[in-house]
Amino acid sequence: QKRIKIKDALVLAPVGSFITVMGWVRNFRSNRFIDINDGSCNANLQAVLEFEKEDPALLRRITTGASVKVSGELVASQGKGQRVELKVDHVDIFGDSDASAYPLQPKRHSLEFLREIAHLRFRTNTFGAVFRVRHALAFAVHQFYNERGFLYLHTPIITASDAEGAGELFRVTTLDAANPPLTEDGRVDFKQDFFGKPTNLTVSGQLEGELGAMAFSEIYTFGPTFRAENSNTARHLAEFWMIEPEMAFCDLEDNMNLAEEFIRYIISYVMKHNEEDLQFLDKRLEEEEKTKPEAERSGMGLLEKLNFVVDNPFERITYTQAIDILLQSPAYKKKKFKFDVSWGIDMQSEHERYLVEKHFKRPVIVTNYPKEIKAFYMRQNDDGKTVAAMDILAPGIGEIVGGSQREERLDKLVERMEELHLPLEELSWYLDTRRFGTVPHAGFGLGFERMVQFVTGMGNIRDVIAFPRTPNNCEF
Ligand code: 4AD
Ligand code: MG
Repeated sequence: QKRIKIKDALVLAPVGSFITVMGWVRNFRSNRFIDINDGSCNANLQAVLEFEKEDPALLRRITTGASVKVSGELVASQGKGQRVELKVDHVDIFGDSDASAYPLQPKRHSLEFLREIAHLRFRTNTFGAVFRVRHALAFAVHQFYNERGFLYLHTPIITASDAEGAGELFRVTTLDAANPPLTEDGRVDFKQDFFGKPTNLTVSGQLEGELGAMAFSEIYTFGPTFRAENSNTARHLAEFWMIEPEMAFCDLEDNMNLAEEFIRYIISYVMKHNEEDLQFLDKRLEEEEKTKPEAERSGMGLLEKLNFVVDNPFERITYTQAIDILLQSPAYKKKKFKFDVSWGIDMQSEHERYLVEKHFKRPVIVTNYPKEIKAFYMRQNDDGKTVAAMDILAPGIGEIVGGSQREERLDKLVERMEELHLPLEELSWYLDTRRFGTVPHAGFGLGFERMVQFVTGMGNIRDVIAFPRTPNNCEF
């Protein structure tokens, strides 16, 4: 008999059909009921054994975590909640699992505990749902851009540039660690190293993406990016995935419109295709919220929030307006902010969260930031103080998108790079786009894990990526 997936067994296969499923035992109760899961959906298939007929030695091997092959007839379920169950003819064990050593029990474990066994946490309901949603979001990203004629450009992981100019780089050196080429004063001599110059893991595919947009008109990247930010927060990873579209013949307004449409599209996709997982995550969050103090609760259910975001336009304000709102807020007047507010600050997450969660109660796009706190490539506005930047702030997350219209005027770009002491020579390939057929263009980066957090309601970014990399943590 051919194996079928448990999702298909539960939903599609007709009562009375004979099927085979394979998966892992979640629970074995009363020597009779085996709950089997193969990761295709959150629900388990209940297989019902007549233990009187089975070899007791075999029964003892059906333990939580063991992998099994089970065949039998699909019959209408006696219990509620499920359409069908499997009347077992035959059980085979692929691999035993010593129940006394297996860390997962058929009960709820804390997320902190599961983080320590990230290699097994896929086998829980919560992580099953999170990673199916993550998969669906990734698929929807490609579908969105493909439908709109964007070309998927694979930008390099190893680069010689620092796209964001923030200096938060992971250096790349060759493996010959025992014998690296050294300078006279004993440091790694990058001139003699593999690439003949210092290289690092990319912080963003944007600069290469801009080159692509100058030929294909619309491109996007979707790949891992790396930042050696020493921030141990629930929103930062050292290795995260980013989606970066880049569009020629596009200004800040078009850029914002695309970002908004994009976010709505991928959320809608998941709501349509992952209903069961989202319902599970909605309940999980509801229970988690009950354990929090009143003031920290979001007051909105997960599905309610997602529906709201799909149905309502985002708020759009300038940075200057944002600062005014903060200065006039009760939170500021009552000195509730830890960090001070004035025009020119790089808003802290408490400020961003005030704007989205307390003031507007919806996602907010903030535009036209002071140039001093933004990257060199952003287009300078006529006021001489601000650049055509846009950040999207999401409830519960803070910044989820960062983007801008790019400085397409060679003289202005060079002037800004000189002010910031950037290596003009090394970036001459980038400047060439402004020398040969420059056009107005714009783009943005969506932090994929922050998006997955938003859609799944998971509070910690470590719980939406399979193997999180954070300061002092590179297990698995
Ligand atoms: O705002 P950022 O730094 O923008 C860029 O990298 C631009 N080159 C994007 C572009 O215009 N093409 O990063 C973009 C997004 C942030 O809004 C955030 O969602 C996410 O990437 N991000 C992180 N996510 C997880 N961990 C980190 N350490 C992150 N740093 C940024
Ligand atoms: Mg940013």
